[in-house]
Amino acid sequence: MRPQKDFLKDETATAQLGAALGHVLRPGMTIHLQGDLGAGKTFLTREILRAMGHTGRVKSPSYTLLELYTVELQGHTVEVLHFDLYRMGSPQEFIDAGFREYFGSDKICIVEWPEQAGNLLPSADIDLFIAAENEGRTVELRANSELGATCLENLYPSPNH
Ligand SMILES: Nc1ncnc2c1ncn2[C@@H]1O[C@H](COP(=O)(O)OP(=O)(O)O)[C@@H](O)[C@H]1O
Ligand SMILES: [Mg+2]
Repeated sequence: MRPQKDFLKDETATAQLGAALGHVLRPGMTIHLQGDLGAGKTFLTREILRAMGHTGRVKSPSYTLLELYTVELQGHTVEVLHFDLYRMGSPQEFIDAGFREYFGSDKICIVEWPEQAGNLLPSADIDLFIAAENEGRTVELRANSELGATCLENLYPSPNH
């Protein structure tokens, strides 16, 4: 599936995208969120978690690198891992923290600043790029797997199908 581009004119539009993502992400999937500080990566994650039924706080993991959540999706208990690797010193830290084991499991991984882990991170099902433009945000979503492509088709249904 081709990359999907969107303009999010305000916070509400970003919140709607986050909610939509929260409804299509499935256990075992990873999404990478890329963009400058203040672009909206944590904001999107909050809305994803809210759409998955999480009602508590969503703290930015900028100092802890990882925050864990447990949600109920279609009758199954699913762990959602929210990483922010911005302050990670080196890829070795990623290995030492045991982060590698989380990927490829039945958890849902949402990763801010994936580029900080170098090539230690497996490629994500979905890469999302967000950037400030004028008063809003531009966003681009790319699928790298069958699962990711199915998600994007659900998010942006093709008019021909
Ligand atoms: N479409 C939008 N237009 C304008 N502001 C937005 C939009 N989406 C999100 N924001 C704002 O951008 C900021 C993003 O902050 P945050 O999510 O912490 O950034 P990041 O995690 O990428 O560093 C928030 O203050 C949020 O209200
Ligand atoms: Mg953030």
